[in-house]
Order: sequence, then C-alpha cells, then structure tokens
Amino acid sequence: MANEKIIVITGANTGIGLATAETFVKDGHHVIIACRNPAKAKIAQQRLQSLNKGQVDVIALDLNSLEQVNQAANEIIAKYEKIDVLVNNAGMMTPELEATVDGYEKQFGVNYLAPFLWTMKLLPLVKKAEHGRVINLASMMHVLGSIKPEHFKADHIKKYNGVLSYGNSKLANLLFSNALAKQLEGTNITSNAIHPGGVDSEIYRELPKWQYAIIKLGLIPPTKPAELIKKIAFDPKWAKRNGDYVSLQTPAFKSAKAKNKQLAQQLYDQSLQMVSTYL
Ligand SMILES: NC(=O)c1ccc[n+]([C@@H]2O[C@H](COP(=O)([O-])OP(=O)(O)OC[C@H]3O[C@@H](n4cnc5c(N)ncnc54)[C@H](OP(=O)(O)O)[C@@H]3O)[C@@H](O)[C@H]2O)c1
Repeated sequence: MANEKIIVITGANTGIGLATAETFVKDGHHVIIACRNPAKAKIAQQRLQSLNKGQVDVIALDLNSLEQVNQAANEIIAKYEKIDVLVNNAGMMTPELEATVDGYEKQFGVNYLAPFLWTMKLLPLVKKAEHGRVINLASMMHVLGSIKPEHFKADHIKKYNGVLSYGNSKLANLLFSNALAKQLEGTNITSNAIHPGGVDSEIYRELPKWQYAIIKLGLIPPTKPAELIKKIAFDPKWAKRNGDYVSLQTPAFKSAKAKNKQLAQQLYDQSLQMVSTYL
C-alpha cells in the first residue's frame, strides 16, 4: 500500500488496543503490537492477520520492568525506520499495593514511568515520520490524582488507595502528553491525550462480579475509542491539534493539576532522572 503507515500500539492483545489495531489493519497499515504475554499476543496477531490487509508484527514488552522496556524499544529501533503513530495504550488497575521490578508503585510504574521511557526512546523514530503522532491513553480519573514524588517508590507508601493511585498514574500520563506537546511545538509531530470513555474491556477484571454487572450497563465498546484514535492519527482536522485532551462519553474536563505547566515540567524532569540509565 502506497501510503502505508507504521503504527505501534502497546497492550494491543485485547480491549481498546486490539480494537485500535483492527481499525488500522483494516485500512491496510503496518501495525506493531507490543504485548507482555506472548501467547495472548500470538492469538491477537493471528486475529489481525486474518483480516488479510496490513502487516502485523509482535514485539515483547513488559512495562513492569524498565530494563525490558529498554530492550523492547531497542528492538523496534533496530527493525523499523520510522513510526507514524505511537499509541501508548497499555495500562492496568490494581487495588493492592504492589511494586514493579524497579521498586515503583505498580500503577505509577506500569501506566506512566515505563511508557515515559518507551516514548522517549522511540521519539526519534516518530520524528522521522512525515506527520508523527503520539497518542496517550489518559482517563477522566486523572481528576482524583496528584503527583507526590515521595510516593513514587512502593516501599515509601504507608497508606495505599488503589483508585487514587490509578488517578495519579493517569494524571501523570496527561502531564507528560502536555510536556511533550510543548517540546514538539512548531514541528509536524503532535502529542495528544484521550479519555476513551467507560469502555467494556478487561480492565475491570479485578472488580467483584456484581459491581462489573452494574458498571457494564454504562460501558461503550472498544471500537468507539479506536475510531477516535484513528481520527487523531489521520484526520486532517487533527493536523495542527497538539497538547489536546479529548474525551468520549463525558466532557473533556481537565483538573487544575493537569493544566499546571510547571508541574508537567517538574514531572518530566524527575522522570528523565528516574530512567536516565536507559537514555
Ligand atoms: N476501559 C476503560 O473504561 C478505560 C477508561 C479510561 C482509560 N482507560 C485506559 O485505556 C487503556 C487501555 O485499557 P483497556 O480498557 O483496553 O484495558 P485492558 O482490556 O485491560 O487492556 C490493557 C492492556 O494493557 C496490557 N498491560 C497491562 N499491564 C502490562 C504490562 N505490565 N506490560 C505490558 N502490557 C501491559 C494488557 O496486557 P494483558 O492482556 O497481558 O494483561 C492489555 O493488553 C489503559 O491505559 C486504561 O488506563 C480505560
């Protein structure tokens, strides 16, 4: 395909990531799915290949380890010349206080710090594309979040609340999207963030069955955010939109913290230090 694009999507074996991959593959693009579970990734790859359109490759990526993120990013850098669209989709929720391999609180580490390193490593490839796009899956739950550097490491946390920690990680996603957008001003590359709506995916797998049954009534299918992501990637109306935050289902309300440019820059600088071994 003459105008085939290269699209990298994290966590594309299920949920919003898989639906997004399907949308791009159906349009004949070359999609790289970056997934942590090889068996699940293989099944997703076969499903995508059965659409008989674009090329589908798999990269092993576990966001629970910065070393693993570094290796996966290096594999992409060695194999591909550019990335037209980088979709930072993978994410998780946990009610328990857990730590990543590097000792970070798990939702902060997996949802934010590892994708930060991933993006910084892959940014030079995005810059090689004619109109590179970075699309970050944030959440309206960012309104509950705050940035507390003293709680980045799991063993520094005394009182843990899983919902608030998820909110922290999603606020961090949004702040990073904004900080990156600022750096990209005046280029053809953009960084934008979305709240995908309440989406019927596996992210609610830890909820008690009765709670899921109630929540499910208000959920939308993953194909809806997939269509929005495609628009951000390729719709000419999005060509100049940079540092935006859009939302499905609910108004795109940004908390005061999410609008705070100084906080965004501070978090960016702290994050660079935390991953400096790999950059
Ligand atoms: N669903 C919603 O209502 C909603 C609302 C707001 C924001 N979001 C955001 O949308 C994004 C996608 O969520 P979803 O709803 O599609 O959830 P999902 O169905 O649970 O999919 C999440 C994906 O992330 C992957 N992942 C989790 N931990 C990982 C790790 N350590 N390393 C690499 N990949 C990992 C999962 O892999 P496995 O399959 O191996 O677990 C899965 O592929 C997330 O960032 C989420 O925060 C979702």
